Amino acid sequence: KEKPIIFSGIQPTGQPHLGNYLGAISNWVTLQEQAHHDNETLIFSIVDLHAITLPQDPKKLRKERHEMAATLLACGIDPKKCILFEQSRVSGHSELTWILNCMTPVGWLTRMTQWKSKLGVTKGVKSLDDVSATAGLQLGLFAYPVLMAADILLYKATKIPVGEDQIQHLELARDIAQMFNKTVKTPFFPLPRPMITETKRVMSLRDPSRKMSKSDPSDQTRINLADSPDVIAAKIKRAATDSIQGISYDREERPAVANLVDIYAAMKRISVEDVVKEHAQSSNAIFKEGLTEVVVSRLRPIQEEMARLEKEEGYVQSILHQGATKATELSQPNMKEIHRLMGL
Ligand code: ADP
Ligand code: NA
Repeated sequence: KEKPIIFSGIQPTGQPHLGNYLGAISNWVTLQEQAHHDNETLIFSIVDLHAITLPQDPKKLRKERHEMAATLLACGIDPKKCILFEQSRVSGHSELTWILNCMTPVGWLTRMTQWKSKLGVTKGVKSLDDVSATAGLQLGLFAYPVLMAADILLYKATKIPVGEDQIQHLELARDIAQMFNKTVKTPFFPLPRPMITETKRVMSLRDPSRKMSKSDPSDQTRINLADSPDVIAAKIKRAATDSIQGISYDREERPAVANLVDIYAAMKRISVEDVVKEHAQSSNAIFKEGLTEVVVSRLRPIQEEMARLEKEEGYVQSILHQGATKATELSQPNMKEIHRLMGL
């Protein structure tokens, strides 16, 4: 029996922040060690074709692609243990998307929620015509989940680490795989499954009812991985707390403090209980100083490596180039078989 293939992607747009680190990148590093141990193939893609489903400035996108690669490497993604590459450098992603587009009912995509939220269309969407007329829906943003299905199926990947927000798209990828298999009367694509990771969401320091997100530009408290210690200290100082004495953990009654405790625990790799024990008597100010220290010291080696890689453009490019070559090699036999099954 063949070893399972794991695929995951991250968009290169915007500055990576603490939510991306704790919710995605650091899980990738853990996964990488497991996959390496189990001799599984692990594919990490910087999904630049997904990024252009919203308008991008070419110069900025080029810079952000490089920065994302450098960030991933600095966070511990090891090209000896995984395949790291840029999606646009492996033509099979676009090619398979087209083939899958030709089998995907538009109704399946209409039901997806992400394009609606990206356009700010939250309710009252009755027909596609309503939306495309009023909000200017482009075909690419609408078809984004088909590209995601192609990303996975191109490698016959079956283990897909995803956040909860992507579960709906992964289910669609399974439906599309089954539609393809039915169409070509061959069980060609194995069905991908989500690997749900146990991490908590990092919430905004300003408003714990919202997640920390780069798509919330008004949030001045979002901690970016590249922030200097002073900037981190200032942002944590500004974080919302409450007037209850001491530090305790209660997501319902003390959501702002609970979020800070979660960040503290995750960044120091200790339990929530241990954080609370350590800071039971701390004032908010003392706790925040402690948190700043924890965040700064965990990010320090990452930032040093990021700074080093900033100057090693050639090295980062060569890693990505090797990754694209390996990904192409993995995808080509599948693409060839897909052509044959389709009569192309
Ligand atoms: P953003 O919301 O900042 O645009 P993305 O949608 O690009 O982030 O997400 C990239 C990865 O980071 C995804 O795997 C997502 O689940 C994870 N992620 C993003 N924000 C958070 C957060 N606040 N807490 C935990 N994980 C997050
Ligand atoms: Na996003």
